Amino acid sequence: MLAYFNGEFIEEEKISVSPYERGFLFADGVYEVVRYYDDHFFQTEAHLKRMENGLKELRIEPPHLTEFPEIIEFLIKKNNLPGENALAYIQITRGAFNPRRHFFPPKDTPPTVLIMTSKFKSHTEEIENGVKVFRQPDLRWLRCDIKSIALLPNVLARQNAIDNGAAEAIFVRDGYITEGTHTNVCGIKENVLYTQPLSNLILSGITRQVVLKEICPRINLPVRERPIPESDLENLDELLLVGTTVEITPIVQVDNFIIGNSKPGHWTRKIQENFFEMTASKNDE
Ligand code: PDD
Repeated sequence: MLAYFNGEFIEEEKISVSPYERGFLFADGVYEVVRYYDDHFFQTEAHLKRMENGLKELRIEPPHLTEFPEIIEFLIKKNNLPGENALAYIQITRGAFNPRRHFFPPKDTPPTVLIMTSKFKSHTEEIENGVKVFRQPDLRWLRCDIKSIALLPNVLARQNAIDNGAAEAIFVRDGYITEGTHTNVCGIKENVLYTQPLSNLILSGITRQVVLKEICPRINLPVRERPIPESDLENLDELLLVGTTVEITPIVQVDNFIIGNSKPGHWTRKIQENFFEMTASKNDE
């Protein structure tokens, strides 16, 4: 696959980075994953805005972000992905500087910019039938609002989930569900949707935003941005994961207990229906 690397279009396998690259040494950077549906990207602007905010927080000078939509479209065409479902992966790190040191390199050190595209298949079976999730303590840092490439706690938690026969881990901090390793979590009880409010404890998911601000008002489902206590999970009517890769995936089991009647619920189906209408439409970009 052709990729974009520091101003050049280049085959992925020909890309090499310096051992002093700060993403490689320190996970000193941010990333985004954007979904491409058939002939259009979904919510590119929102993803790039979030990336810009993350770069500001890390004090990395944002490089030519306005050119990114054109670059990812070009990669999709060159990699013969039109008509497919695909993902664009965008990563920006603080660049390479020798020697390795814990403070910033000189201001003129250019950031490293990587953009890749790949085929991606929707998890249709999971979206249709629902998944099991596994609770894990939230051991991440206290800036989960930044989409940092430092994902070790997420990787370990997701692997633990998989080792326990679950599709995703959901994090618990101080007795409350924060989010998943690569997803946001919403619960529904007595016709109200509950989810962790935005703060430093979760990523402001683009899919979460679409569900809360566009879909819920449309289907008349009231939203309360309140954290879900772990002790309340068993009493929820419905529980779901939302995110760029999982889209809207029902949760039918948490550890050893069943949610609802182990089938995706009424509201989850309504949210899915509306979400897939939006992703199918070029105008919701
Ligand atoms: N992850 N929470 C976390 C910790 C995430 O990493 C993600 C996305 C989300 C959902 O955000 P969005 O709706 O904007 O995709 C929530 C991406 C997909 C990943 O790491 O691959």
